[in-house]
Amino acid sequence: MGFISNINNELLSKVATNNGHGENSAYFDGWKAYEIDPFHPTQNPNGVIQMGLAENQLCFDLIQEWVVNNQKSSICTAGGCEEFKEIAIYQDYHGLPEFRRAVARFMSKVRGDKIKFDEERIVMSGGATGAHELLAFCLADPGEAFLVPTPYYPGFDRDLSWRTGVQLFPIICESSNNFKVTKKALEDAYNKAQESNITIKGLLLNNPSNPLGTILDMETLKDTIRFINDKNIHLVCDEIYAATVFNEPKFISISEVIISENVQCNLDLIHIVYSLSKDLGFPGFRVGIIYSYNDVVTKCARKMSSFGLVSTQTQYLISDMLLDDTFIEKFVVESRERLEKRHGVFTKGLENIGINTLESNAGLFCWMDLRSLLKENTFESEIELWRMIINDVKLNVSPGCSFHCCEPGWFRVCFANMDDDTMRIALRRIEIFVVQYKGINNIIEEGIENSLPIAPGPVSFTSISSSNNRGRSSIAESNELETQI
Ligand SMILES: Cc1ncc(COP(=O)(O)O)c(C=O)c1O
Repeated sequence: MGFISNINNELLSKVATNNGHGENSAYFDGWKAYEIDPFHPTQNPNGVIQMGLAENQLCFDLIQEWVVNNQKSSICTAGGCEEFKEIAIYQDYHGLPEFRRAVARFMSKVRGDKIKFDEERIVMSGGATGAHELLAFCLADPGEAFLVPTPYYPGFDRDLSWRTGVQLFPIICESSNNFKVTKKALEDAYNKAQESNITIKGLLLNNPSNPLGTILDMETLKDTIRFINDKNIHLVCDEIYAATVFNEPKFISISEVIISENVQCNLDLIHIVYSLSKDLGFPGFRVGIIYSYNDVVTKCARKMSSFGLVSTQTQYLISDMLLDDTFIEKFVVESRERLEKRHGVFTKGLENIGINTLESNAGLFCWMDLRSLLKENTFESEIELWRMIINDVKLNVSPGCSFHCCEPGWFRVCFANMDDDTMRIALRRIEIFVVQYKGINNIIEEGIENSLPIAPGPVSFTSISSSNNRGRSSIAESNELETQI
């Protein structure tokens, strides 16, 4: 006798069966395309290169060296196993005191040591993902909403809305002023929500921004503080890319703005989301932090954190690492330098073939302007172009529509989750694609050879010319191109 599978939606909850996870978006479809056919320099050189994952992999040599030199911090080593039992048994949900102290210090360090964070306010969560959901549970009821400037990280829909029933309401930001969050845009969104009878409970800011790679200036930050105080709504500031700022102007944390002399602010409204996923490059460790200036929220969040604690083994390792001042100092500086270099080579490579990116100084990605490649100024055309890039060019980049961008033609491209050679191959593919797509063969004569280091191994496209009837090249020509570059 076999089991009869009778799982259908009627037997399940609304949360289990609604689409709130957002897995059906182009953002996640791109990841699937990569998983089916992942690029490998020798075993699968024509596979999909993952440029849709905001991961910071540029400094793992430094981390590895630290781990080898600090075996006591890993309790599964001969040097560290004495602590194994103490770490393996139940701990309370406050987290190890050294961990809270270490994280509070690290948060200060990556904000230029201008502000001190109180370790008693450090609350753990399963990554920033868990932190956002937890805060949404604390601050709003189902049906109520948070304002969020567009374009924004697609995961916010899942993190803040899916299981909580809280909504996100877009603040429309435009390319004409580099997607600035203006006072007018804030007021317009708030008024629009009110007209739709939606109660706004808060504003969600992401600074530095994913996907823009830009930071908010002091004036904008002060305006938002005035705005949320005026409306008496919460401000959640996601600062998980704080240490990725690799160039001027300097990053300004919301924690700095609220103590400025000329800013009146009800601190009970201010909450910071942080994580070690981007700044240290450890998304696998799921270290998320809620730092609220509101005592009631801090207490409630701590109770709720039982559902998403950071494992004590991870806390133990991370405390030792973060409290090693010499190492952290070196890491933060080196990481910024490597990001700056990578960003520079990548954006310059794009620029050389006529592709602009939004000027940025932070993050693990850039916001690429492909508006000139759209057949029409529509999101359908954007998706059509995206399909071509993923299927023919074999690059998983993410289309702007998945970030709720209000203008078609923008794409996020991640550049810090791969080695130099893979980045060069990706650039070469984009070049060949643009040349074929636009028929700009004179670019090659104008010296792409000089602009890019030679990448190893051939990369050949077999389908560009068949799917793109506007390109002038044949497959033979595309192979010829590759040998020239
Ligand atoms: C702005 C932003 N917030 C939150 C997250 C989720 O981070 P975590 O891996 O710490 O859950 C991401 C991940 O890309 C992100 O870009």
